[in-house]
Amino acid sequence: MLARSAVRALAAPSSRLFSSSAARNTKVAVLGAGGGIGQPLSLLLKSDPLVTSLSLYDIRGAPGVAADVSHVDTGSEVTGYAADQLDQALEGVKVVVIPAGVPRKPGMTRDDLFNTNASIVRDLATAVARVAPEAHILVISNPVNSTVPIVAATLEKAGVFNPARLFGITTLDVVRATRFLAGVVGAQPADTPVTVIGGHSGPTIVPLLSQSSHGKGVTGEAYEKIVHRIQFGGDEVVKAKDGAGSATLSMAYAGAKFTNSLLRGLNGEKGVVTPTFVKSPLFADQGIDFFATNVELGVNGVEKIHPIGALSAEEQKLLDACLPELKKNIAKGKDFAA
Ligand code: NAI
Repeated sequence: MLARSAVRALAAPSSRLFSSSAARNTKVAVLGAGGGIGQPLSLLLKSDPLVTSLSLYDIRGAPGVAADVSHVDTGSEVTGYAADQLDQALEGVKVVVIPAGVPRKPGMTRDDLFNTNASIVRDLATAVARVAPEAHILVISNPVNSTVPIVAATLEKAGVFNPARLFGITTLDVVRATRFLAGVVGAQPADTPVTVIGGHSGPTIVPLLSQSSHGKGVTGEAYEKIVHRIQFGGDEVVKAKDGAGSATLSMAYAGAKFTNSLLRGLNGEKGVVTPTFVKSPLFADQGIDFFATNVELGVNGVEKIHPIGALSAEEQKLLDACLPELKKNIAKGKDFAA
């Protein structure tokens, strides 16, 4: 017989990933559902009680993923859509998660993906603007620093851009920072949350360890090492997969985690705060109008953009290195969209 605690753990396998509040009708679409991220992300969203309906789209393979995932014994309905059914896939959706596009191979930067992914993301955003103009859009496709401005400009052209409803998913950087810090200080990740600001690529990823009770004690070589690992953790995965792609499973986890946070906010839960890359006034005077910081999520999406807070001297240096690179990445996205 299973011990009572084990039964409880089995009965609530996703309780650590998802917390649920009021259940509403919430249809979520995944565009790129057949891919390395899309498949496990679809599975995790199927196990989120806040998702009432799941719409899976890809240019290949989505109906198969949908048939598979739909047998999981949770309440949501799952439908798969083929390449020519994008509009149907988007009908009535409240949240659109986009992991469509090519991933990195060893030696590539996220910016190397620009040429392929820019047009994929633009075309998908055009369809969202047409069919589900009020949907919240969560962009996973890299380079996030450029693809988010592309989506914004595409929606703007269509006359439906609402900055409160567009998010670049930087949650994997937060998840990595939290996990790596826990390892360094010998604590549980639940006790070592780290705020990560800036963007989502190498030097634009700025972890604020000084704002964490465990992180502020990490100094010297250990500090340099953990910052490098947070900024370039994605490369570890690309290298280990040896040509087979980049992070998919941890990214699916991060994508599902962010989606759950947004749904909790949309359902009226108060105090849901997490870093995400959004249209932001914080550095707009320097020509950088998208930036990741802690954002409070609420019934309208972005409820409040938090300031970056106090930085250590090292973090100020990291931020100084981030800003010009981020500015370039944003401009590249805007130029493409124009
Ligand atoms: P993958 O190649 O395994 O899957 C991509 C999927 O997108 C494929 O199934 C493909 O058929 C589909 N696709 C391509 N064009 C499409 C279109 N026009 N409409 C719908 N679907 C389309 O790639 P993976 O590993 O899933 O990565 C996807 C993206 O996520 C990459 O750009 C990658 O760099 C990015 N990524 C982002 C992270 C983040 O932290 N934001 C972390 C890891 C990856």
